[in-house]
This record gives sequence, structure tokens and C-alpha cells, in this order.
Amino acid sequence: MCGIVGYIGNRQAFPILIKGLQRLEYRGYDSAGIALIHNGELNLYKQKGKVADLQRFVEQQDTEGTIGIAHTRWATHGEPNERNAHPHYSQTENLALIHNGIIENYAVIKEMLLEEGYVFRSETDTEVLVQLIDFMQKTNNVCLAEAVQLALSQAVGAYAIAVLEKGNNNQIVAARKGSPLVVGIGKDEFFLASDATPIVEYTDKVVYIGDEEIVTLNRNGEMKIVTISNVEKTPEIKKIEMSLSQLEKGGYPHFMLKEIFEQPKTLADSMRGRINVDANNISLSGFIDNKDKFLNAKRIIITACGTSWHAGLIGKYAFEEFARVPVEVEYSSEFRYRKPVINKDDIVIAISQSGETADTLAAVELAKSKGAFIFGVCNVVGSSIPRATHSGCYTHVGPEIGVASTKAFSAQVLALTMLALLLAKEKETISDDFYIKLINEINLIPIKIKEILKINNELKDFARTFTYAQNFIYLGRAYNYPVAMEGALKLKEISYIHAEGYPAAEMKHGPIALINQEMPVVVIATNAATYEKVVSNIQEIKARKGRIISVVTKGDTIVKNISDYVIEVPATEECLMPILAVIPLQLMAYHIAVAKECNVDQPRNLAKSVTVE
Ligand code: G6P
Repeated sequence: MCGIVGYIGNRQAFPILIKGLQRLEYRGYDSAGIALIHNGELNLYKQKGKVADLQRFVEQQDTEGTIGIAHTRWATHGEPNERNAHPHYSQTENLALIHNGIIENYAVIKEMLLEEGYVFRSETDTEVLVQLIDFMQKTNNVCLAEAVQLALSQAVGAYAIAVLEKGNNNQIVAARKGSPLVVGIGKDEFFLASDATPIVEYTDKVVYIGDEEIVTLNRNGEMKIVTISNVEKTPEIKKIEMSLSQLEKGGYPHFMLKEIFEQPKTLADSMRGRINVDANNISLSGFIDNKDKFLNAKRIIITACGTSWHAGLIGKYAFEEFARVPVEVEYSSEFRYRKPVINKDDIVIAISQSGETADTLAAVELAKSKGAFIFGVCNVVGSSIPRATHSGCYTHVGPEIGVASTKAFSAQVLALTMLALLLAKEKETISDDFYIKLINEINLIPIKIKEILKINNELKDFARTFTYAQNFIYLGRAYNYPVAMEGALKLKEISYIHAEGYPAAEMKHGPIALINQEMPVVVIATNAATYEKVVSNIQEIKARKGRIISVVTKGDTIVKNISDYVIEVPATEECLMPILAVIPLQLMAYHIAVAKECNVDQPRNLAKSVTVE
């Protein structure tokens, strides 16, 4: 969660750090802070609130300095206030540290330090770490990098940290375990960040810091990496392929709206080189290179969190229907702790937009240790999960900045569907005709989404009428059931209206008790094997005076006649409908949240990349 930025070079650090924090603000936004060294002095500036609040606060002050570190926080230990904001000083204000992650054994370390006479100003685990580094430096009389190494050998938990030392204008020391950290290499300058977004406008050369590695960035352009156990590593320079325009709003009022509207393009990008209509084939190198593993798999386990978990559920339906292989879909946070049975001939598919979600990464490591083959479906190239998996398939939708996931979801569903069809084709569990039909249908998805997006203005007006609502129910069956859950999640994430996604038939086992004339019920009732059943479910709601908002296939009359509001989507194959049906639900959630004047891109308490468990 939290975002980290650092700079050392010949330019003024402050503007680079502030801009970097703004780019990383999606990672956490309850407080922010900066540390700069100027004339040997180590100065800290911190503020509760957004990066803009920090910027306003610091503007009147001296922000000189060509070396600095900065942080935007998503609180774990201690409430979001100025005192708990990062950077944290050590006792004598000789060191300043920023941290993303959690030091799990901080209480034990703190007790030891208290006995040594250390006094604490905040409630954070981070302050404990900076004091421990200070303690190590003093008691062992070592340089900063060595003190960091000694301190981290005692720390249990996850971290990406960066440390500055008073009087040392020439060095940033940083390290990571579990939380992401990237170094950007410029000409006689280094950038440091939680991901490449703050770096991209200065350089395309990066080094991804590995787990348990400590990096020292020197002003003379020298960079040194050692592991906590003191093994020196050669930095591996990679090229990032991300453009600045991908990180800007491009005329849209919010990133979320921009990302919803990008979907025709992002899905076409996701298909490029993979869906070939002329050759009637699907090509996924991650599958082709590991075909035998997929063919021999007795079971697939999908693990993910949040929206990615919803995509996983849709994947399950496709794998089971087409490839006839049993699939379990697990919340990563449950999977990693519930002693799951994992066999060597299982395939574990980890889905993650960010590629950094701590629970999913831990689930991957667990499954790997049991000998399973791990396949990643991730978006951020070079992030931790793709690096930890045996193979995978990137979704290639570009940076997703809005905290509520939209374009990543549709591409995850696409990737899983392509994988399921490919496996089914190889296993001969589907006919060639069906395979070809699906390829053609997939190819039409971007055009169909463009069509759906035309209802944006109409949806905007309609959404306003729902700002009063306290609760929403979303219903769907089969492939549309996970879509109902995703629609509900979108709404609650950004509008703070309570919403539940339910399998339509299950409604009568509980949620039906909630229905009255105030209650909006969104039903995804597109053409499907269960269509008639869903119609009956709608009747049950109507009988209790619920207000029906339905998503139907173009040309539908039956559901249309019994709904209060109807949204039409073009027809497609049932397994592809989630990609179309989710679009109006994303738009609806967006417009309700805007009408309620909520912060759509940075909803309260949420973060885009959850790097703590
Ligand atoms: C957070 C985000 C969600 C996302 C989930 C999983 O909760 O706010 O939008 O679905 O993490 O993230 P991942 O990056 O692993 O897909």
C-alpha cells in the first residue's frame, strides 16, 4: 500500500518527489511526507491528508536539496495523522526513513530499544525500524548500509524502505522484502519508487530490486546491491515500456472514467497476436510452452483478491464448461493460511492487476513450495507475482490508476477465456466449429463495448436518481453471477452505498427480506441457459415492489416489460457476456459516486495495490 519515491542527482529533488507522490497516490492517501538533505541538514515535512495538502504546506518553506525521499501513506499501525506520517526520524534525528509494509515483530524490537533508552514519538512499526538501524549503527560503529543490513536481519515482515542520513549528501540506502521497489537509472542520477510510474518521465532504464536486497545509490552514479546475508548482486537493467500519456487523464474528469472508456482499445491490445481470426487460432505462448503441464493437470486452482477474484470465478465457469477440468477459486488470503491440499499435478493460476498483492504473492510461494505449476495473469510487467510464477499471460491494458479496477477486470476475463478455450481445443472437449465461433466472437468484443459506451450520458442522468439509496442488490446466474458481485463491489467501493452481489436464485434464501419499494435491484438477465429462471427471480422481486434495473440482450422484450429501467447490451456467447455486462455496471457505479460527490479515483480507506496482508 503506501508509495515510496526517492531521488539523488543534480536536479532539485522536491519537484520530482512531489510529482512522484502524485503518481503513486493511488497506493495510499491518508498522509504524506518528504525528507530532504540540504547543507548537511536533514529536514522533514509531513502532513495529514493528500499529497496536495503536503505540497501547500511545504510551498512556503525551504525545499532546497538534490537528494530526498518521500512517502504517501495508507495507515496500518497508528491513525492517519502528522505524527504517524512518514518519514520517521531516529532518536537523534540523524536518520530519516520511509517504509511500505509491516514489521511484524516491531513490538519485541521496540521493547528492546526502550530498554536501551530509546524514546518513540509515533505509534508506527516504521519508527521502530529506523531506531533499530540507528542502534545498529551506533553499537557496531558501521556505515549506514551495513546498519540497514544488520537491522533487517532482525526484522520479520514485509518492507520496502529508503533511508537518508544527516550530513550524508551522497547516498540513499534502500531495501525490500515483499513490498515492491524499483530504481530508475538516469545520467548521473537515480530515481527510486514503488513502481515505475514516477520514473517513466525521466528514464526508461530500471532495476527491479529483489527480495532481501539492499541497494545503495551513490551520487557519483554508482549503485551497489547486496543481500541481507551479504552476497553482492549485479544490477540487471530492464527497459520499461510505458508512456507518460498512459499516466494522465487525457481529458476525462477521472481516471476511472478514462479507464472504462479505454476498454475497446485495451481489450484489442490484450488480443493482439493472440486472437487470429484469419488462421482461426488462439496463441498464448505461456500455454504453448507448457502445454503438457496443462493437459496433465488434474485440477486448476485460481487464487486472487478483490476484482481479480471475481474474474477468477468467471474463469472457473469457462474452464469447467469447455475444458472439463475441475477448478477451485480461492481468496488468496484464505488459501495461504488454511493448509490447502496442493498436488504436483495442480496448476495454480494467480490473477493480479498490480502483480504485488501480498496475499496473492504468498499464495503463489506456498503453491510453488508444494510443487504445483504456477501461471500468472497479471497486468504490471515486471511486478513481483509474474516474477515469482513459472509462466503466465500479461493482460497488457496499460497502467490502471483508478483504485476501482475496470479495464483490468475485462482483460483478466478475456485472458482466462482464451486459456480455457485453448486447453479445451487441445483436449478436444470442444468442437472445432465452436472454437472458431468463439474466436470470431472474441474479436467482436471491442466493437460491442464501443456500442455500450454510447449509453454513458443516459446512464449519467439515470444514476443521479439513485444517490438516495442505502442498499443495492445485484443478481445474476451462471457466468453473470460473478458479474453481479463485481457490479456490487464497484458501487460500494466508490459510492459507499452498501451493495451485495448474489446468485439470483439464492436471493429467496435471505436477501429477499430486504426488498421493498426503496430497494434497487440490478439484475443481469442477458440471453443464457438460465434466462427463464432469472425472469422468475425478477417476478419474485416485482411481487415485493423492488425497483428493477436490468441488463438485457438487445431486443429483449420479456424482461424489458417487467423492469423499471433497462440497459441493453449486444448479444454474444454466454461465456463472453461478463465482459459486456460489466461495462454498464462500471458506468453506473461511477456516475452514482460522482453524483454523490465522492472521490472516485481515491475512495476512502482503499488502496490500489495492497502490499500488506
Ligand atoms: C485492491 C484493489 C482492487 C483489486 C484488489 C486485488 O483491493 O482496490 O481493485 O481488485 O486489490 O488487486 P490485484 O492487483 O491483485 O488485482
